[in-house]
Amino acid sequence: MMIIFLFVITVTSLPCALAASRPITPPNPIHVPIFRRSTVSDRVANLPKVVEAVKHKYGFASTNSKRSGEASSGYVPLTEMQNNTPYSGVVSIGTPAQEFNVILDTGFSDLWVASTACTTCTSGPPLFDPSKSSTSKNLNSTLHISNASGSVTVSAQVFEDTVTFGGFTLPNQRLFATQAITADAWFRDDLSGLMGLAFQPISILQTPPFWQALDNQHLLANPVFGIYLERHTGVNQVDKGTTAPGGTLTLGGTNASLYTGNIEFIDMPKGTLPSYWFQQVQTVTVQGKSISVASNNGLAVIDTGITLIGSTIAQEIWASVPGSVALTGLYKGLYAYRTCPSLHLSHSAIPSCIALRCTACATDVTIAISFGGTNWAINPADLNFGTIDLGSGQMCVGGIFELYSTPTPANLPTWIIGDVFLKNVYSVFQADPPAVGFARLASGLENSGASGGVGRFPGSAASTKFCLVVLVLAWFFILI
Ligand SMILES: *[C@@H]1O[C@H](CO)[C@@H](O)[C@H](O)[C@H]1NC(C)=O
Ligand SMILES: *[C@@H]1O[C@H](CO)[C@@H](O)[C@H](O)[C@H]1NC(C)=O
Ligand SMILES: *[C@@H]1O[C@H](CO)[C@@H](O)[C@H](O)[C@H]1NC(C)=O
Repeated sequence: MMIIFLFVITVTSLPCALAASRPITPPNPIHVPIFRRSTVSDRVANLPKVVEAVKHKYGFASTNSKRSGEASSGYVPLTEMQNNTPYSGVVSIGTPAQEFNVILDTGFSDLWVASTACTTCTSGPPLFDPSKSSTSKNLNSTLHISNASGSVTVSAQVFEDTVTFGGFTLPNQRLFATQAITADAWFRDDLSGLMGLAFQPISILQTPPFWQALDNQHLLANPVFGIYLERHTGVNQVDKGTTAPGGTLTLGGTNASLYTGNIEFIDMPKGTLPSYWFQQVQTVTVQGKSISVASNNGLAVIDTGITLIGSTIAQEIWASVPGSVALTGLYKGLYAYRTCPSLHLSHSAIPSCIALRCTACATDVTIAISFGGTNWAINPADLNFGTIDLGSGQMCVGGIFELYSTPTPANLPTWIIGDVFLKNVYSVFQADPPAVGFARLASGLENSGASGGVGRFPGSAASTKFCLVVLVLAWFFILI
């Protein structure tokens, strides 16, 4: 079993006195603002890298890591920073505090930042300087990570230091700080690293991630955190290098102003132990047609650190979308769909007008996912990643890709449920009993940011009206 680990309860070694000293009145939930930014200017061109990143992260493409001193293995999301529009939060490390923007990643369990010792981290984010922190402790352990071909390698030093996140401060938190990395543009723009939000068993440093350390010390009012990921308002794409409000993470509770109705909690599937946040996909509804998902094709990881949705049944899903095609070459695993009216007119004004409509991808792809309860619908705007020109005209690239094809590697997740889905729900990650809950977003949030369409033509409604006027005029001139 590669990814299913025994859940180690680290709190058991704590003396009873500590447990007894837990606060009688737990603190109120703490709300942490989330930011969203784009690290790339061309989302479609970057998609193959995002797909590769997911495969590395979950071991479908092999990644090697080892730590000197202590035998250890784990994955590191080697191409994580090439994610399209990661959601991030602010973490402070050291004394005095050094602040960093880090990707909030429910599919990762360590705190990882770029350090001033890194000679190749030149692309600009703030770097952690352990020498300026009076509380930093160098554990004199170096982590070496390389991908299978050895062409990307990372080395990182392991530290312990005081960490503050979401208003909570904990001393002696283990983290790794990049010393060298061979890939360019690794830590992009103002993103300095990652904050893991999964469970200890997948921690490379074998340490509880920050949220779990808080929970182990009974510092959270409830053993949960809630996440709302906001779409960028107006357009579906954040301009490269800019940030936008991206939602709220609530530590120790949920934020009732962000959802409506009940939170539907579903326990982690039988046979899994808390390492990743597992769920079991039961059905997928595509264009109104329900596909029931076989149990060996349903194990899913809920991962805020991934933009897309990966699935072993992507082919079956897209087969239910009329006119969809499997992309090839660099884009293998991804699918595109055509939503343009197939009119054959020759007036010069018309083709560009039709192209405009095509770009707006007017016809909706409607997909909903159920984990055993509600069918959670994905806003069509979230599934459309923009256009690709296949020679025969433009098509829209969809946000669900083929995770891997048969033969299915044993015990690996068959779905990675990323932001394409998570933007559509309020998500609650519950440690005890281990479960993930989803709730309907509060009214006003459900479609926020989705109305503008994608790509270069944010005003799709206006363009459609413009097109209709052009078409009517064109027909009028053709007829006379
Ligand atoms: C790491 O090495 C330095 C220098 O040799 C030493 O002062 C320090 O105590 C070591 N740290 C640990 C945690 O062993
Ligand atoms: C290692 O990473 C580089 C850069 O992303 C990539 O070109 C190469 O294909 C990767 N090797 C393997 C075996 O995945
Ligand atoms: C809930 O989320 C909203 C929007 O992000 C935020 O303004 C508010 O402070 C949060 N807290 C509570 C208690 O509602």
